[in-house]
Amino acid sequence: MLLSREKLHGNYNDLIGESTGHLEVLKRIDRFAKSSKAVLISGETGTGKELVARALHAESLYAMQPMVVVNCAGIAENLIENELFGHERGAFTGADRQHIGLFETASKSTLFLDEIGELPMPLQPKLLRVLQENEIRRVGGTAQIPVTARVVAATNINLLEAIEAGRFRRDLYERLKSLHIRLPALRERRKDIPALAKHFLTKENNALNGKVVDINPEVLALFDAYSWPGNIRELEGVISRAVLLAEEGEILPDHLPSDLRTPQTPALPSADATAAANPNVAECFVLPFPIDTTLQEIEKSAILAILAREHGNRSKTAEVLGISRPTLRAKLHTYEQEE
Ligand SMILES: Nc1ncnc2c1ncn2[C@@H]1O[C@H](COP(=O)(O)OP(=O)(O)OP(=O)(O)O)[C@@H](O)[C@H]1O
Ligand SMILES: [Mg+2]
Repeated sequence: MLLSREKLHGNYNDLIGESTGHLEVLKRIDRFAKSSKAVLISGETGTGKELVARALHAESLYAMQPMVVVNCAGIAENLIENELFGHERGAFTGADRQHIGLFETASKSTLFLDEIGELPMPLQPKLLRVLQENEIRRVGGTAQIPVTARVVAATNINLLEAIEAGRFRRDLYERLKSLHIRLPALRERRKDIPALAKHFLTKENNALNGKVVDINPEVLALFDAYSWPGNIRELEGVISRAVLLAEEGEILPDHLPSDLRTPQTPALPSADATAAANPNVAECFVLPFPIDTTLQEIEKSAILAILAREHGNRSKTAEVLGISRPTLRAKLHTYEQEE
């Protein structure tokens, strides 16, 4: 079935993008928002996990209350239990008054457990119990207190690998993953890059009262060829830096960091070099790309790599590749239409 924003109940205007991967994410937010079950959001750094958690909260039954955010990697191990569940007066030396934990603070709201993969092992079964029984007990207390907070957990590490490494409990993972939103990396949703870049450009201009009005197409070609290890946050940073450097007019390749301006695709080894290194060329030839890559994909990556090396100069790129400028323009146009 064709995905589209019109079919969604909620308003996700802050979440820019029309790629299939992104619309799939919006569909899941829409489906899960009204449930009170725990949701797991996974994705590389900078893919928008917190923004998605906020959208889930905004469309939930608890939207009137502020979302409570806890970074599981940011609290000392010996304090986490105390922070999450609270304690009674006299629970330990120095506990001279009662302390209400975050599960209670987040009553009838969303408790966002960021970096859940870093939750210390001893706390994992305790969290699992809370999710199963919807009750907590304050440290040093006896009363079972009903939990009305809705848990949203996020991770940028692969939890299956953490399970293999003995750092995450499989039972907790199984419990969390029944409602799972996996955020695609930016390189898996390249179609969204121009719209995201323009969104951040507008944001920067509004903030700085700036005069940078556009993004040069060569810049968009470089964006399309780049791997974006820091994902959307990295794109946001690149635009914000470029706006400062450009001052006015449009963002040009010169306003980009050097790793964006240099090609990342490995250069195709020359036949001579391969032959010199291996006298038995036929047996030793190694393809510089995965075996199932199509000729079209190889052509695209070669064209974008040369375009990047030539700093977006199309005439030079066409010359190096031995094709005409109109041919190059037509090919770049096709790439822009593709996802
Ligand atoms: N679809 C989107 N549209 C517009 N902005 C987005 C989108 N997704 C993410 N952003 C922006 O990208 C930046 C990074 O997003 P966010 O902080 O949610 O990522 P994260 O996955 O939590 O990263 P980390 O793993 O490093 O904590 C934020 O400024 C956020 O507003
Ligand atoms: Mg985050």
